[in-house]
Amino acid sequence: MKTFRRRYYDFFSNFYDKIIALHSKDKSARLRRFLLAKSGFRPGQYLLDVCTGTGAVALEAASLAKGQGCVTAVDFSHGMLSRARAKASSRGLQVHFALADVSMLPFKDEVFHVVTCSHAMYELKAKVRTKALGEFRRVLKRGGIFIMMEHSAPESPFIKFLYNLRIMTMGSWENRRFALDERGELSRFFENVRLEPTPSGRSKVVYGFKA
Ligand SMILES: C[S@@+](CC[C@H](N)C(=O)[O-])C[C@H]1O[C@@H](n2cnc3c(N)ncnc32)[C@H](O)[C@@H]1O
Repeated sequence: MKTFRRRYYDFFSNFYDKIIALHSKDKSARLRRFLLAKSGFRPGQYLLDVCTGTGAVALEAASLAKGQGCVTAVDFSHGMLSRARAKASSRGLQVHFALADVSMLPFKDEVFHVVTCSHAMYELKAKVRTKALGEFRRVLKRGGIFIMMEHSAPESPFIKFLYNLRIMTMGSWENRRFALDERGELSRFFENVRLEPTPSGRSKVVYGFKA
């Protein structure tokens, strides 16, 4: 049965790309490239993009991979995945899509070199996020990297209010705690956890390795 959340994202998929384009113009593509550059992903490797939405990171990874290796994208929203699939096929890019919840990934252990997640970790419920982090570790090879990207807390008080509101409505107070200290939680699952701001300082990547 579809949960309210899945219905919400299915509905949102109808205008997600338009909102991103309005909001960030080509910054969005630059950010996704920054995320992939930091992940160290290269042709021949296996990459999993979770909560892929309309596929921004997965498509960028597939174009970097140049047909070598494998890019897989997961989302639990059928609407989001159909958009991502249509974009991949119109650009001639090879991406494997899977409809699944991040808390239960349909993959064997130690398959991927890289797991990416852009702008979704703050939207997961705390219990789902904890299970998902365990799943990311499980499907990563030893030496693999999990890397997430999120907006940094804005400085303007009004925008900061909206930012916190979004985090709390999608999750709870617990999500705000996570947003203030992702490194603490990631350290329970990964080694060498680091945080780096993007060049604009408006977003950040947080990543950790599976030793
Ligand atoms: C804000 S969008 C981000 C999309 C994309 N990563 C990007 O950067 O544009 C969040 C995505 O997470 C997906 N999502 C949320 N909870 C999920 C879950 N439990 N399992 C799988 N996907 C989920 C939603 O369907 C949505 O596509």
